[in-house]
Amino acid sequence: MAKTAELIIDGKSYKLPIVEGTENEVALDISNLLEETGTITLDLGYKNTGATKSAITFLDGDKGILRHRGYSIEDLAAKSSFLEVAYLLIFGELPMKDQLDKFSNDIKLHTMVHEDIKKILDGFPSSSHPMGVLASMFCAQTAFYPESLDPNRSAEGVYLSIVRSLAKMPTFAAWAYKNAMGHPVNYPDNSLNYTSRFLKMLYALPAEQYEVDPIVADALDKLLILHADHEQNCSTSTVRIVGSSKASIYSSISAGINALWGPLHGGANQEVILMLEAIRKDGGDTEKWINKAKDKNSGFRLMGFGHRVYKNFDPRAKIIKKTADDVLNKLGVNDPVLEIALKLEEVALRDPYFIERKLYPNVDFYSGIIYRALGIPVDMFTVMFAMGRLPGWIAQWKELRENKEPIGRPRQIYTGQNLRPYIPIEKR
Ligand code: CMC
Repeated sequence: MAKTAELIIDGKSYKLPIVEGTENEVALDISNLLEETGTITLDLGYKNTGATKSAITFLDGDKGILRHRGYSIEDLAAKSSFLEVAYLLIFGELPMKDQLDKFSNDIKLHTMVHEDIKKILDGFPSSSHPMGVLASMFCAQTAFYPESLDPNRSAEGVYLSIVRSLAKMPTFAAWAYKNAMGHPVNYPDNSLNYTSRFLKMLYALPAEQYEVDPIVADALDKLLILHADHEQNCSTSTVRIVGSSKASIYSSISAGINALWGPLHGGANQEVILMLEAIRKDGGDTEKWINKAKDKNSGFRLMGFGHRVYKNFDPRAKIIKKTADDVLNKLGVNDPVLEIALKLEEVALRDPYFIERKLYPNVDFYSGIIYRALGIPVDMFTVMFAMGRLPGWIAQWKELRENKEPIGRPRQIYTGQNLRPYIPIEKR
């Protein structure tokens, strides 16, 4: 028999269906609550609200588990490639060799962007943050591919938009950086794989020979895998809610890029490095900064610490910490901020404030250190996160569409003024 929960309001009992997921997660289905009881639920920040049923990513915050389509993040990071993980997320299964070859070749066919996009790029001053430039260029695709606006697009049409999104993202990302540097842009070199192609567009200068360092490319590929999806976080929920109005894939993902930009979400990786640099310049006294983070009046938080869902450890942070060590060793980089990061982590992990609130290093705490070692500039850190998260956004947008989910439209509890008469300006 289907399980139900009982809710009593003013002595009257209501039955709520219980929904169970494949990993035994339990939810109360409140979709008919308003109709039956005249009551809504209130949950600021959606801390306890399931907004959808999804088969893409499973996450257990207490146990530190992250799986995509049933495969553990540890396995994927160690054995897979970014494009293979993208395929898995978007289409539900690991590809056979011919499927992956086709996917990769389809992407190569679309790595160029329309020359007129360069005119849009030229309109941005070089002081523009690359995230703003990236979101704008991504959304501009709606103008170059107006057929993508059709809410009833065929499966082939959707596939083309997916391929275009993945193909052009590295080009947009590298061009956003070139714009900030005031350098001419590079065109994609399709003899290279996805990650190396991006690195060449990012770094190559017209006057110099550029060879992609395989250590750098491998490390970046792993970082992209670690960011590929993370179920219903702020930017993904944004993509789903924009997509729920039947907006195009490009505008939905552009909204996700903007949501990711904030310092509490993807923007944290940039903030971590700025914080570590500030601590270093201040003499490296980590205790002082920990105390500042604990002082609610300081307005300062330990960036890269804490997570809405992980309350034990962030499995991505574990892998990234090890990768940071490996990359720095292989490249022979000695970054003084790594020492500060390790000290900060050590002090925080034995401090009751952080222990009681279950605040642990998250994915962003060490990723910035690797990006720095790979030579990626600070302003580009969140762009790297966006490049990694793209397959997740695509998969979630596609799932929403295939599940024919209704438009997202939360309710509210109104706390403003009651009805009052209008007073003309001269009498106020
Ligand atoms: N430093 C100091 N105190 C903190 C921190 C922090 N980084 N994070 C949370 N707290 C405190 C917070 O002040 C609150 O204390 P109290 O209960 O005394 O009021 C308590 O811990 C719970 O915090 P919260 O803000 O209610 O928790 P949340 O689940 O709403 O926020 C978070 C999660 C990630 C936004 C938050 O931990 C934070 O701001 N961290 C720093 C930014 C960061 O690293 N973000 C990257 C997240 S991982 C990448 C991604 O997926 O976006």
